Amino acid sequence: MSGPAPRLTLAPGLVHVPGHLDRAAQERLRDAIREVVRAAPLFVPRMPRTGTPFSVRMTNCGPLGWVSDETGYRYQATHPETHAPWPEIPELARAAWDALADHPDPPQACLVNWYEPGARMGLHQDRDEADLSAPVVSLSLGDTAVFRYGGTTRKAPTRSIRLESGDALVIGGPSRLAFHGIDRILPGTSTLLTAPGRINLTLRRVGEPGG
Ligand code: SIN
Ligand code: MN
Repeated sequence: MSGPAPRLTLAPGLVHVPGHLDRAAQERLRDAIREVVRAAPLFVPRMPRTGTPFSVRMTNCGPLGWVSDETGYRYQATHPETHAPWPEIPELARAAWDALADHPDPPQACLVNWYEPGARMGLHQDRDEADLSAPVVSLSLGDTAVFRYGGTTRKAPTRSIRLESGDALVIGGPSRLAFHGIDRILPGTSTLLTAPGRINLTLRRVGEPGG
């Protein structure tokens, strides 16, 4: 890597780091995520109560993984379909946490989202974690996404930025509960993946502080 990438503060605690991963690191992380997906296949999460499928497919790595189905959102130690423990968090993802999270404890969960062209994620807060003292650290691979963010209330005005392959985003401090989502991805904007689409990783602390 050619020195630390510049950090752009979008709002207090919400920090965009364009190009945190250079191309070689993106390729290594892509390959590591392929291994994760081999061990823990992508699944289609469903909305609580209604069971409506998400347009994003997901898997996880780390001690805990985020899942959603008719019974609600939760973290659990095993894959909802294979019932196997999640694979380990790839070293490069862990290194990004160490570089950016400014938190003494390691991530407990790494959610892997796969966006095909047409997939999106509605505005939401990441609030299923008991420990809100740690940020969420996001890494993007593949096609560019239009990322929308607002304040900590649903009514607050929103803005959008583009997250490109290799970019990191830290969602922490006063912005830890900021609403955010993905309006769309821009197919054909990256050559990293063989198919058009985008991988997003979010590294999180889940448990009680010290837990
Ligand atoms: C998420 O909010 O879980 C994912 C955000 C992203 O895909 O950048
Ligand atoms: Mn989120």
